[in-house]
Amino acid sequence: MILAVVVCVLAFSKAAVALDNGLMRTPPMGWLAWERFRCDIDCDNDPKNCISENLFRDMADRLAEDGWKELGYVYVNIDDCWSSMDRDNNGRLQPDPKRFPGGIANLARYLHDRGLKLGIYGDLGTHTCGGYPGTTLDKIQTDAQTFADWGVDMLKLDGCYSNASYQEQGYPLMTKALNATGRPIGYSCSWPAYQGGLPPKVNYTLLGEICNLWRNYGDIQDSWDSVLNIIDWFFDNQDVLQPAAGPGRWNDPDMVSQEHFTLMCESDSIIPD
Ligand SMILES: *[C@@H]1O[C@H](CO)[C@@H](O)[C@H](O)[C@H]1NC(C)=O
Ligand SMILES: *[C@@H]1O[C@H](CO)[C@@H](O)[C@H](O)[C@H]1NC(C)=O
Ligand SMILES: *[C@@H]1O[C@H](CO)[C@@H](O)[C@H](O)[C@H]1NC(C)=O
Repeated sequence: MILAVVVCVLAFSKAAVALDNGLMRTPPMGWLAWERFRCDIDCDNDPKNCISENLFRDMADRLAEDGWKELGYVYVNIDDCWSSMDRDNNGRLQPDPKRFPGGIANLARYLHDRGLKLGIYGDLGTHTCGGYPGTTLDKIQTDAQTFADWGVDMLKLDGCYSNASYQEQGYPLMTKALNATGRPIGYSCSWPAYQGGLPPKVNYTLLGEICNLWRNYGDIQDSWDSVLNIIDWFFDNQDVLQPAAGPGRWNDPDMVSQEHFTLMCESDSIIPD
């Protein structure tokens, strides 16, 4: 099953400054592992579904060979649970050696050869939500450089195991660190989801200046109720959310499946009562 990251364009508003990395002038589209495959790391018993380089290669093949790429679905995004539990001797993140034996740079090459882009996941805090090594403030530059060296095209930076002041410092620092690598890397910030998604805690003007994309609200789950709950929240708060979006800066209602997307964006009448 193909699940796609879809950012519903709530509106194109004029003015407002966007993160100046030239990326995501239109909403990014692609595939993200979490909603379906979660933190399944049991490759011995569940080789088809575990978080491994094989899973991402398979998905890349599907996007490239089944017509998705032509429609714009070019991002193949790794979520949590990809890394080793330990950083390497130089303090750099490294993939789990058993599940990603070829390394992330090889995986990126595989995608690039097919005209696709690779997204990866990090967490601003002591640990990722799944308990893997997080990006503490002192590791921001190292991790940005590691991702750039690997040829990564997009970073989702989650916010588990940190706090409000940490996030206020860390999210803009990562913007600078990514820029300093010289590699254009799309930057997806989970920050507002940790601030309740709305002003006055969330400053959408600032987010538009430092992130290409941001998670406003809770994770989507594998259920219709969850999809409707998210749609309702975006509907209720559209007056705040709409002006925040524009080329290079997007609200992200979280990955939704292609079927969900079709229903959400094309036909109100299909949505069940
Ligand atoms: C870094 O920022 C500068 C100034 O905002 C911009 O011109 C440049 O394209 C950025 N580079 C990358 C790799 O994002
Ligand atoms: C936030 O987290 C940092 C790093 O763990 C810690 O030093 C700081 O005291 C925390 N601040 C609050 C208000 O809890
Ligand atoms: C929001 O961020 C913008 C841009 O950094 C800043 O100019 C503005 O003062 C901030 N607004 C609030 C209410 O803090």
